[in-house]
Amino acid sequence: MVTKALKGKEVELGFVQIPVKNRAELLGQNRMPFTTKVNGVPAKVDKYGRLWSDFLKSKYAVGTEVTIRRNNGSFEIDTVEPFLKSTSVEVKPIETVPLELSLPQTKICPKEPELKPTNIKLEATEIGSVKPYFQANSAWIFNENVIQTKVIENDSIDLIVTSPPYNVDIKYNSHNDQISYEGYLEFSRKWMSRCYEWLKNDGRFCLNIPLDKNKNGQQSVGADLTTIAKKIGFKYHSTIVWNEGNISRRTAWGSWMRASAPFVIAPVELIVILYKETWKKNSGSKISDINRDDFMNWTNGLWTFQGESKKRTGHPAPFPLELPHRCIKLFSYVGDVILDPFSGSGTTLVAAVLDNRKAIGIDVDLEYCKLAKKRLTKEAHILNAKLAQSSDLIE
Ligand SMILES: C[S@@+](CC[C@H](N)C(=O)[O-])C[C@H]1O[C@@H](n2cnc3c(N)ncnc32)[C@H](O)[C@@H]1O
Repeated sequence: MVTKALKGKEVELGFVQIPVKNRAELLGQNRMPFTTKVNGVPAKVDKYGRLWSDFLKSKYAVGTEVTIRRNNGSFEIDTVEPFLKSTSVEVKPIETVPLELSLPQTKICPKEPELKPTNIKLEATEIGSVKPYFQANSAWIFNENVIQTKVIENDSIDLIVTSPPYNVDIKYNSHNDQISYEGYLEFSRKWMSRCYEWLKNDGRFCLNIPLDKNKNGQQSVGADLTTIAKKIGFKYHSTIVWNEGNISRRTAWGSWMRASAPFVIAPVELIVILYKETWKKNSGSKISDINRDDFMNWTNGLWTFQGESKKRTGHPAPFPLELPHRCIKLFSYVGDVILDPFSGSGTTLVAAVLDNRKAIGIDVDLEYCKLAKKRLTKEAHILNAKLAQSSDLIE
């Protein structure tokens, strides 16, 4: 068995350099290069004695001491001490509760982030009387109306990922999702103006909206909201088309097999990518933690993955974790502040915490805030025991 500490390039690219002095022990009579396995995952030893495998990509933090064992022609790699990094947050919580985050190893950032204090003001004295519904370590949930809330300071947010109500008559607890189209556009203008104020100059905005609307009058929702965002001052970067693949739900054909009035419906949604002033990101830790394959795949603006189940989350219109996860990894640095002003069941918050960012959610409905808290506890591995006594600041 050989023990060594992992270096930056090894962590980033997904290999372990087998030290020359240990080659006889680990490689035996094998002539390099050769294929093998690491912990059951296909791997390769190249001609320089580097053991490559997807298993190793961004799995450990830099400096982690690992043991390398040879076992019947394949390899087993393990940590000497599990190197679990808890998310550190520089902003002071409303109530100081020493909570820990237990992050799954695959999510660990390859480099130790230098988390700098953000200029977000979340101390009780600085946000007046507004208390979060919930706060633990690096996540905040506010049971507030996005149009009126005073909880977020201007120029404080790195990335907004959100899916607003679509005005398609979803039965939300506290929001009327069937108003006139003009009323809906005005509502959109109001909440997007708030988001614009809250973003830093190099802040980004990932807006998940429908391409269009077919029931109760057809409307080009995607185009209309993008135009409003640009009038507010947002700059346009690009649009990702999310193919939900839910063709089976189709029932409206219009005039079946006749040209008189057929309906064309695209089973896709949009994620419009906007920003405030500059696309080039200057603030934050400067630490990206996206791997090569994900970067290559996700910068192709056609994303295909399934939607989320209402039943599983208990919310009438959730998006899947994959959506905010991709946006967060692509468009933010480790330690950045991520906001979802329509946080619902807390999907963006869960993704942000798992991805080692700070998460702020706002939702007008208390029941959905409760759901989000539950999901953060369960899915983002915020440790339950201490949380239970500390979190319900409003309940
Ligand atoms: C499409 S859902 C968001 C779902 C979320 N992405 C998830 O994965 O669970 C929209 C949410 O906006 C909330 N909402 C509607 N109007 C609001 C307002 N004025 N301020 C804050 N939240 C609002 C609703 O309660 C609902 O939970």
